[in-house]
Amino acid sequence: MTIANDDLIKAATEARRHAHNRYSNFAVGAALIDDKGQLHVGCNVENAAYPLGSCAEAGAISSMVIEGGARIVKIAVVGGSGEIGPCTPCGGCRQRIREFADAETVILAIDDSGEWQEYSIESLLPASFHLP
Ligand code: THU
Repeated sequence: MTIANDDLIKAATEARRHAHNRYSNFAVGAALIDDKGQLHVGCNVENAAYPLGSCAEAGAISSMVIEGGARIVKIAVVGGSGEIGPCTPCGGCRQRIREFADAETVILAIDDSGEWQEYSIESLLPASFHLP
């Protein structure tokens, strides 16, 4: 199952509009396509108890698991401005993605202006910990 980068980026951008980001004021949206061809989205959801906040990728991955998806084919993460550059997944989310990624998984990081960069999980999380 393939999906055009533009369509996935659009879904992530739409999800980003729902970010509950009152503490950081940093909005992130994520959209992924799974091995069943299903689309899943998420946004960051922050909390007054700061460490309880969750990342956009976590929401999209939870949706995938609940819907029976097993692998991430492609994931787009939208966040960041020109100054910061495209929002690449945080360290924790790299490990979250790793759980459901393989060598072919495409990870797209996109900023406000639509500039994007493409990564593999190996490039973002080399020598990663995972179980067979
Ligand atoms: N954030 C994400 O949602 N995904 C990432 O990969 C990076 C960071 C969120 C967490 C927090 O709500 C805000 O961005 C600022 O760190």
